[in-house]
Amino acid sequence: MAADEPRQIRIFDTTLRDGEQSPGASMNLAEKLKIASMLADLRVDVIEAGFPIASPGDFEAVREVASQIRSSVICGLARCGDADIDRAWEALQPAAQPRIHVFLATSAIHREFKLQMDKEEIIRRAVAGVQRAAGYCSDVEFSPEDAARTEPDFLCRVVEAAIAAGATTVNIPDTVGYATPEHMGKVIRDLVSRVPNIGDAVISVHCHNDLGLAVANSLAAVENGAGQIECTINGIGERAGNCSLEEVVMAMRTRADYYKTDTRIVSQRLVPASRLVSGITGLHVQRNKAIVGRNAFAHEAGIHQDGMLKEASTYEIMRPQDVGFFNTDLVLGKHSGRAALADRATTLGYQLDDAQLKSVFADFKVLADKKKEIYDSDIVALIEQQNWLQSPGWTIESYQMQTESGQTPQVRLTLRHGERTETREMACGDGPVDAIFLAIEELTGYEVRCVEFSVHSVSVGRDAQGEVNVEVEYQGQRFRGRGISTDSVEASAHAFLEAINRIIAIQEATKARQ
Ligand code: KIV
Ligand code: ZN
Repeated sequence: MAADEPRQIRIFDTTLRDGEQSPGASMNLAEKLKIASMLADLRVDVIEAGFPIASPGDFEAVREVASQIRSSVICGLARCGDADIDRAWEALQPAAQPRIHVFLATSAIHREFKLQMDKEEIIRRAVAGVQRAAGYCSDVEFSPEDAARTEPDFLCRVVEAAIAAGATTVNIPDTVGYATPEHMGKVIRDLVSRVPNIGDAVISVHCHNDLGLAVANSLAAVENGAGQIECTINGIGERAGNCSLEEVVMAMRTRADYYKTDTRIVSQRLVPASRLVSGITGLHVQRNKAIVGRNAFAHEAGIHQDGMLKEASTYEIMRPQDVGFFNTDLVLGKHSGRAALADRATTLGYQLDDAQLKSVFADFKVLADKKKEIYDSDIVALIEQQNWLQSPGWTIESYQMQTESGQTPQVRLTLRHGERTETREMACGDGPVDAIFLAIEELTGYEVRCVEFSVHSVSVGRDAQGEVNVEVEYQGQRFRGRGISTDSVEASAHAFLEAINRIIAIQEATKARQ
């Protein structure tokens, strides 16, 4: 590396593992594969695809991601026990570049209350775990869980022993989001100066966001010698989440003058990646979220707008197009053709094959008849809804609703399942949304409890498409659904039906395994 070349920091994405641990964010296999493919296009260095021993679904996800993605390292998580490590290695068999990630808690609190192990036992187990993993795979990561709260002398001993046993990456987690930037910087500095074999491994950092400091702590670790950052798209993850990939990457890129580091990430794909993950998980991105929030580049104050028109750099430290936003948000209309739509979809980060383009274009024409101006966000919604339409299960063939103040709504709903259609006509519900939910329950035979319901607009204007997200409870488990339409009752029906389709898919998968 030439003296003035930036130091390359590896990006380890754990959206599919730690991110999936966000309450309500569980994903099915097809969704995980979509995210994995997007992560590969983003050029993340490592994709942590799951925790294979945790469930058959996690195992399958790691195996499928490992067989489909060749350009990134694929990682499976394991505790320091033989069964976990063997299962992780089994799942990683198809990988071109496999990594086993073993972890064991090291802090006094975890040793005493969770593990009931003394320090010597921890070291013995960590070494045994790393050695077993290294017997299978040359790329082994070791994480001393709750490292940020571990006594510094003991942390140095564990890290040294793990490296001697074969760990090629040592990851330092702030598991409970307790550290501050100064604290995290010192933890890494200590390891660099006190662990004799530290040069034989890459130091990684894994920060949780309980105090809103995950990005700052990760950057402090990098400043003090870390060479890998563990993060997630939109910062999703356990509790308050993990370090946000888009924020940490853009901080290093925008302030390369200060950090003198860079990553391989294709930053123009950050916004599409963020939208894909929020669409799949149902975890919305707040409007003012740095980098990918809808307002991240919106200038409201007149004085700012004036400055922007004269010279963008007066109020903008990054260009919106560099993270995947486009200046020309108002793009297409009724007279736009297929080629224009294909072009726009590519610019927004979606590679549509002929069949997909054909069906998105058909929906685009329907939307353009209802809505004069089609924005990028409408196109994204159309494409993502398309993915939903391709998922098997019930779909809405048609519905009619009659409402009158003071009267019970009257609904006529037809659903399709493969070749079969079913219709119900009923007077029910406390309003049109309740009525259509009841009709769907009646037709599918699934009675669920709706525990969350939210509506927001996808683009702007009175004719904007509405996006509805629902969460329903069925036999103690929660399922999400999302629907988009210019008609909010129809969007609600799509969302509710998607949640029911997920229940059916899970039941069918469980039956198939028995
Ligand atoms: O937060 C944590 O400590 C983890 C480990 C498994 C790396 O997620
Ligand atoms: Zn974590």
